[in-house]
Amino acid sequence: MSVVSTIGGKNKDGARSASLVVFAVDETTAHDLAQSIGQLGVTDAYVARGDIDTAISHLSRVEKSPQRLIVDISGESQPLLALDRLAEACDPSVQVYVLGESNDVTLYRSLLQAGVRDYRYKPLTVDALRGWLGDQDGSLVRKARSGKIIAVTGTRGGVGVTSVAACLASQLTAGKGLRRIAYLDLDFYGGTGSTLLGMSSNHALPEVLQNIERIDPQFLERTLTSKDGRLFVLAANQNYSDAFSMESGMMGRLLAVLSQHFHYVVIDLHNPGGTLANEVFSHADMACLLSDRSVHSARVLTRLLLHIEARQNPPALHVLLNSSRSPVKGRVGAKEFAQAISRPVALDIPYDGKLPGLAEDLGEPLAAGSELAKAVNKLTRMLTGELAQGGAAAKVARWFRRSA
Ligand SMILES: Nc1ncnc2c1ncn2[C@@H]1O[C@H](COP(=O)(O)OP(=O)(O)O)[C@@H](O)[C@H]1O
Ligand SMILES: [Mg+2]
Repeated sequence: MSVVSTIGGKNKDGARSASLVVFAVDETTAHDLAQSIGQLGVTDAYVARGDIDTAISHLSRVEKSPQRLIVDISGESQPLLALDRLAEACDPSVQVYVLGESNDVTLYRSLLQAGVRDYRYKPLTVDALRGWLGDQDGSLVRKARSGKIIAVTGTRGGVGVTSVAACLASQLTAGKGLRRIAYLDLDFYGGTGSTLLGMSSNHALPEVLQNIERIDPQFLERTLTSKDGRLFVLAANQNYSDAFSMESGMMGRLLAVLSQHFHYVVIDLHNPGGTLANEVFSHADMACLLSDRSVHSARVLTRLLLHIEARQNPPALHVLLNSSRSPVKGRVGAKEFAQAISRPVALDIPYDGKLPGLAEDLGEPLAAGSELAKAVNKLTRMLTGELAQGGAAAKVARWFRRSA
């Protein structure tokens, strides 16, 4: 990669905190863009030669995500797949603009569908660049990119909400991508989620709520707990004597902010009832509802499904059966259960013996070969769209978009 221009800081720091980052494949475009950016009076930009993968490796080193990123897909044989890799590497809040060589309307539409703000073919005129840089929400009417919100809840205590939510959060970080995940523990009086993720619980939630107006990536890195800079825990861990309350609308605001900074927000929704849970359901893209095979759970689930589906903007619902206890003979099968609730069962998680309990006691990941881990792996791929997707286009179509 050759750096063409770092405006607003000739040193390394300028490069690492620029609000506009540009990668162009060829020298001429890079130079022209650097010149135009200078003419337009931008004070903190970084322009270099490189393709999408160069941009990805640059982003993994910067301290602060840029506000805008311009990338060049010229010569890229599978641009949508390359953009998919990019999506995993940059914060959902980054506005991505794409340059290319072809005047191809199908490509243009696919890119917009994937959440790219705009696509232009080269050479990019100063006017077009001005349009991009002046693009405050509204001038280019595009839906803002945001991470996906996944709520996990259950029909009663002990059905495996925390086990599944924690395992899902950690599996979402796995793989080659550079996804950032937030695990939001709504078991306010000390849930086990943090322990399952090998971290200690924190009291970050009240602090985050108090500072909701000025949350930036630095604040989140300081306040949330993380071992690897990828998976972050946000919990309340209240004293039993203290009430925990959130003003109406606050949960929605919190989720809107978190979804700007994380690719996925996994919510351990300890209690599916009440106003706070309603706000979670209204903002979630997906909800996983855990149940055992009891008649009681079938009844609760039926009511809960109807309640969530009646919300204005309901999440995509996934019913999961889990056997958190040793199975007893005579229990209804997954098929009969699905009939009883008149909904399909997305996943039937088998009893996993001692492994989940052991992992919890030790604060270690589930052992290799764990049935629970295997089932959640399937769930993870279902929710990210990797499973049962018809190729690259389908995968990319869900790249930035909210599914709701
Ligand atoms: N599939 C499973 N196999 C074996 N044990 C499980 C399974 N799912 C959950 N458990 C265990 O069941 C208990 C309750 O699970 P937990 O996730 O804390 O439930 P919840 O959050 O719904 O109250 C935990 O001890 C956990 O280790
Ligand atoms: Mg729990």
